[in-house]
Amino acid sequence: MSATPKPKFKNPRAQHNFQGRTVSITGVGSYVPAKVLTNHDLEKSVETSDEWIMSRTGIKERRIAAKDEFTSDLATKAAQRALKMAGVTPEQVDLIIVATITPDMPFPSTACFVQQKLGARRAAAFDLEAACSGFIYGIEIGQQFIMSRTYDTVLVIGAEKLSTIVDWQDRNTCVLFGDGAGAVVMQNRPNSHGLLTAVMGADGTKADLLHMPAGGSRCPASQETVDARMHYLRMDGKETFKNAVQAMLTAAKEALRRCELDISQINCVIPHQANRRIINAVGERLGATTDQLFVNLDRYGNTSAASVGIALDEAVSSGKVKRGDLILLVVFGAGLTWGAAVIEW
Ligand code: ACO
Repeated sequence: MSATPKPKFKNPRAQHNFQGRTVSITGVGSYVPAKVLTNHDLEKSVETSDEWIMSRTGIKERRIAAKDEFTSDLATKAAQRALKMAGVTPEQVDLIIVATITPDMPFPSTACFVQQKLGARRAAAFDLEAACSGFIYGIEIGQQFIMSRTYDTVLVIGAEKLSTIVDWQDRNTCVLFGDGAGAVVMQNRPNSHGLLTAVMGADGTKADLLHMPAGGSRCPASQETVDARMHYLRMDGKETFKNAVQAMLTAAKEALRRCELDISQINCVIPHQANRRIINAVGERLGATTDQLFVNLDRYGNTSAASVGIALDEAVSSGKVKRGDLILLVVFGAGLTWGAAVIEW
């Protein structure tokens, strides 16, 4: 008699006795604006070079949204593509979560604008702010609503118009960021694995490493804050780099441990697209091969909350990820925040 084959992995969610409720990503979509800003374009406005940017970051170009194209527009276009793939109408959506640090305005939420633009009249809507980690935070929260039977269909979108908070006079930061959006539709799918686990973390003691000083209740907008360029993001690049590698490594290892998976079993690792050197350092320390790593930051730069959503969409549409494959998403962002997720596609 042959022994029962050992399962490929452990599904930690299945153990929580949610009466067999499991959450799948049934649709994915992304949108990037048409305008391309190359490193050579940036050479004309700040003292930098294509060679410096490429060697330090791996970024070749990024997309910039038009003046009248807002975060909610980018989010809506990505969401429409994800809904189409899932075969879901806007009226079927129960909840819209938009992860962003560049909302259309402080309130109402960008998610409410997206709800109106999609015509998702039944959907509850809110924004969440976890910087570049927002997409993982979003899918974890979306999953909780589905597992608890509160909702059946949740739309999670990471969307950013970072070009509006980048100081275009600061060469330390302006070369790094771009605009775009990525979206997923999450639904209950019995007898499938889908999202196996998600790890979220934060360390508020390191908030100063990456922040936008003015525009909130601590430092409301005034002539002085505008003159001091305090409505642009500020970053300690070196410290951010060090923390990013450590946090992503810890999150990824914890997600793998929970699923009793070895990195060699993962078909595709999709890291936050911030810097090629960060991606390589994390990949190397995890023991991932270059082939396992999905990278598109050369074309888009760092799109913060949109980053892994756009990458997931491209990994799927390019055939790099196929049904049944195991994917590891791993992110890091301001806060500090971090996260990782394992998905059976
Ligand atoms: N072009 C040319 N020279 C530059 C540029 C530029 N665009 N930017 C900085 N330099 C100069 C600096 O002024 C410095 O010059 P100095 O030595 O004369 O003072 C020199 O290059 C070296 O600067 P470093 O900061 O040492 O460069 P480093 O190798 O650390 O790379 C970088 C800088 C790319 C910013 C890197 O630190 C990094 O990627 N950090 C992580 C950033 C990140 O991922 N942020 C996003 C987090 S996610 C989120 O929540 C949004």
